[in-house]
Amino acid sequence: MISLNHMSELKSVRNADVRGKRVLVRTDFNVPLHDGKIENDLRIRASVATLELLHQNGAAKIIILTSLGRPEGKVVEGLKLAPVEARLRELTQVPFEMHENLRFDPREEAGDEGFAKELAALGDVFVNEAFADSHRAHASIVGVPNYIPGFAGLRFGEEVERLRTALTPPQGSVALIGGAKFETKEPLIKKLLTLYSEVLLGGALGNDVIKARGMPFGDSLTSKVPVDPDVAGNERLVVATDAFVVEGEVNAERVASIADIRKNESVIDIGPQTAVLWSDKISKAPFVLWNGPMGVYERGYADGTDALAQTLARSGVQAVVGGGDTAAAVEKYQFDSAKVFVSTGGGAMLDFLTEGTLPGVEALEGNAVA
Ligand code: 3PG
Repeated sequence: MISLNHMSELKSVRNADVRGKRVLVRTDFNVPLHDGKIENDLRIRASVATLELLHQNGAAKIIILTSLGRPEGKVVEGLKLAPVEARLRELTQVPFEMHENLRFDPREEAGDEGFAKELAALGDVFVNEAFADSHRAHASIVGVPNYIPGFAGLRFGEEVERLRTALTPPQGSVALIGGAKFETKEPLIKKLLTLYSEVLLGGALGNDVIKARGMPFGDSLTSKVPVDPDVAGNERLVVATDAFVVEGEVNAERVASIADIRKNESVIDIGPQTAVLWSDKISKAPFVLWNGPMGVYERGYADGTDALAQTLARSGVQAVVGGGDTAAAVEKYQFDSAKVFVSTGGGAMLDFLTEGTLPGVEALEGNAVA
């Protein structure tokens, strides 16, 4: 997927002639929903500036194309867009129409050209404001700009710009990567080890390195694929020195030194000593990149992640953070948005950092339709 022109300038919606035109805006409104309630509306808020710009610049009609969840090509009641549409109408007065969840049609994820053509026929101009979905070569992301002129939304452009800066960090910068599935993140970890002074690994990723370094990991969640010994042996790769562990069914929690994890214990978060140590590294770094929680966040093991998020927000360090849980943790605290950029992307952020581009970025760069 490496593109020769991946550093080329994207055409911005700022320079698009939209007066009197029908504009298709692809957004990613895949937000966490529980019982129809939106738990985090960052991705919806992130689209508003582009919609307002289009309206001010005289767009005749704004049609939003978006996706929510993984309905697998069928209509799923709970994944209809009514709640996200209602939230967007609260956030802006700009008139728009919203097409129903694109993923209800199997042709979307299949990247079907016929579907892309059908969608393109609804508009005169295309704007990609769905950075978080742009690692997917889906019809509405890569196909539509083959038929009508395509532009980067304001937020999309900012995402690309900020993530490009994360690929040229100043000396002494720190990267924090959490979550699970070492094998999918190993290419990125390898790359970050060449760019960052230290790469701090939390979550299950940390367990994999603890295991690879021959330390006891008990019953902790680890990947099936072993870590490349060159990666595990890299001294810039840092794992926790202590951890919160739980024991089997009983859920007896304790703080354990990493050298002292027992057979039936599992690591569920970084420990308090590690949180202090890593907070110190964060607050002293010229730049911090962070994706992925330090513990089993969805089960409420949030102390480690929250402690680091609080330091990041309060210390005024320059940072780029992303991934749903990480973004939500940082957003619990007051931060200066000129310093901390919260990416709307999860997988898209990781793929962009790994590859330096995304299918959705390349589709706009390669857009030859005048
Ligand atoms: C995301 O939440 O990362 C995007 O909306 C993409 O979702 P997907 O993994 O279902 O393609």
